[in-house]
Amino acid sequence: MANATDAGGITFDRVGDYAAARLTQKLSECPDCGGTGLMRTTTHQNGRDYEVVTACPRARLQKRATLYNQAHLPAVQSLATFETYKPSNAEQHRALQVVKEFAFRWPTQRGFVLSGPVGTGKTHLLSATLKHVAIELGVNVSYVEISLLYSQIRRGFQDGKSGGEIIGPLSQVDVLAIDELGKGRGSQFELETLDELIARRYNAGKVTLFATNYSLKPPEERAQRGYFGTETVLESAKDSKLLCDRVGDRIYSRLCEMCEFVEFPAATPDMRRSPQLAGRKRP
Ligand SMILES: Nc1ncnc2c1ncn2[C@@H]1O[C@H](COP(=O)(O)OP(=O)(O)OP(=O)(O)O)[C@@H](O)[C@H]1O
Ligand SMILES: [Mg+2]
Repeated sequence: MANATDAGGITFDRVGDYAAARLTQKLSECPDCGGTGLMRTTTHQNGRDYEVVTACPRARLQKRATLYNQAHLPAVQSLATFETYKPSNAEQHRALQVVKEFAFRWPTQRGFVLSGPVGTGKTHLLSATLKHVAIELGVNVSYVEISLLYSQIRRGFQDGKSGGEIIGPLSQVDVLAIDELGKGRGSQFELETLDELIARRYNAGKVTLFATNYSLKPPEERAQRGYFGTETVLESAKDSKLLCDRVGDRIYSRLCEMCEFVEFPAATPDMRRSPQLAGRKRP
């Protein structure tokens, strides 16, 4: 199947802190629709000429570029694609397969969680997935790094906004990628915010994708046995390497149902330290 970008006409770079897509030719200068989004063509049938109005593919691409730009992906990921991801072990191969299956089989009911050490391409794969579903399929997507969301909500409180107002749009978007899951101070505010966001998406049957540095091992692997609720998680989780300790049993349980889990081994190389990447020109 042809890709929306096959014919060219779209580039990816950065605008400020975010990755940005733009058409190589402004829509207002489109020779086919002049920016109206509609093309007039003439067809000849049964000895007569008919004028037909069709949607301009360039206008469609502009809409998809807007969807991509609204996701607010990190600027450094503007060139991330499935093709540029090079797996170095079996789990990275599986991750690539899982994210591609997700993207190519959309709409799907299940997301994924990618877990692994730093610099192993988790954000790269989230970004490549959101790029594919926004640009190729025209799906509404959003990206959020969890600790930035917490600080955004805290700042919103000072301006009189409720946490719900900020979480609202993230609850509704078709595909949400939550990066750095488990990061933060682990305060009750943070856990309750996360709990609300995930519960809302879970209840609405929305697909959510995650990346984390914490291990996906189940609660049975805990040093201390027992149920960890939203409040009790805090003290016990301070030094834990397990995601279930960092987010609590309620959220972990929902992740198990909502997502496929992929965990990279601890020895997976940090690509930020590879000479190849260190010398790469940033977009
Ligand atoms: N397997 C890979 N193939 C190609 N590029 C990679 C690969 N892994 C990482 N990279 C590149 O290395 C850089 C760091 O990757 P990324 O930010 O996705 O890592 P991460 O796993 O999210 O790390 P962190 O846990 O620190 O957030 C990016 O420029 C990314 O494109
Ligand atoms: Mg990352």
